[in-house]
Amino acid sequence: MNITWIGHSAFLIEGNDRILVDPFFINNPSTEITPDQISCDMICVTHGHSDHLGDAVAIAKRQKIPVLSIVELSKYFDKMRCQTVGFNIGGSAKVRDTKVTMTQAFHSCGADADGLDGAAGSPAGFIIESGKTVYHAGDTGVFGDMALIGSMHQIDVALLPIGGFYTMDAVHAAKAVELLKPKMAIPMHYNTWPAIKADPNVFKNEVAKVSKAQVRILDPGQSLKL
Ligand code: NI
Ligand code: MN
Repeated sequence: MNITWIGHSAFLIEGNDRILVDPFFINNPSTEITPDQISCDMICVTHGHSDHLGDAVAIAKRQKIPVLSIVELSKYFDKMRCQTVGFNIGGSAKVRDTKVTMTQAFHSCGADADGLDGAAGSPAGFIIESGKTVYHAGDTGVFGDMALIGSMHQIDVALLPIGGFYTMDAVHAAKAVELLKPKMAIPMHYNTWPAIKADPNVFKNEVAKVSKAQVRILDPGQSLKL
């Protein structure tokens, strides 16, 4: 498997299939990659905030690939004439050779795009099984049932927000690693804007105190082979 951090919460996960998560390119200050440079088999969108919904519609329509999201947000993608898979928290969707299970996320959700009309469902995270198992937490604070998620899935890589302010910070994210018990953790959702300025080495040091998980700090655009 190959994991590329595009920047912010956007990742390209290349396992059995190529899965693009939270495809935020055009207004993302941490990447110069443009949506037309991306080739993938499906898109997963954790919630309707513009820094996660991003350029999902344009990419999905150009490549004629499905967008996986919670049912209410999925109706927006239907309206935008995308192929959609609308499911819900606790449920799984099998697309091609990949299984995606939706998890809860403690956050808010709104209408950041034209035509979204305020109904974007609940924010979510994803367990993506595509050769290896990747947990993308979406935007969330730490919550105790991360231990349940960790006990039900052998997580190879956890992608966790550490920027604070809108989500958990580096110290809380280390608690998330302790609960999830992944083999590896990669920080995300930091340093995109001043409000979420964070030092990923604080996360790395805090994780070392409570977990054997390896922390890999990526630069935007950097890939990791597993
Ligand atoms: Ni958000
Ligand atoms: Mn966000």
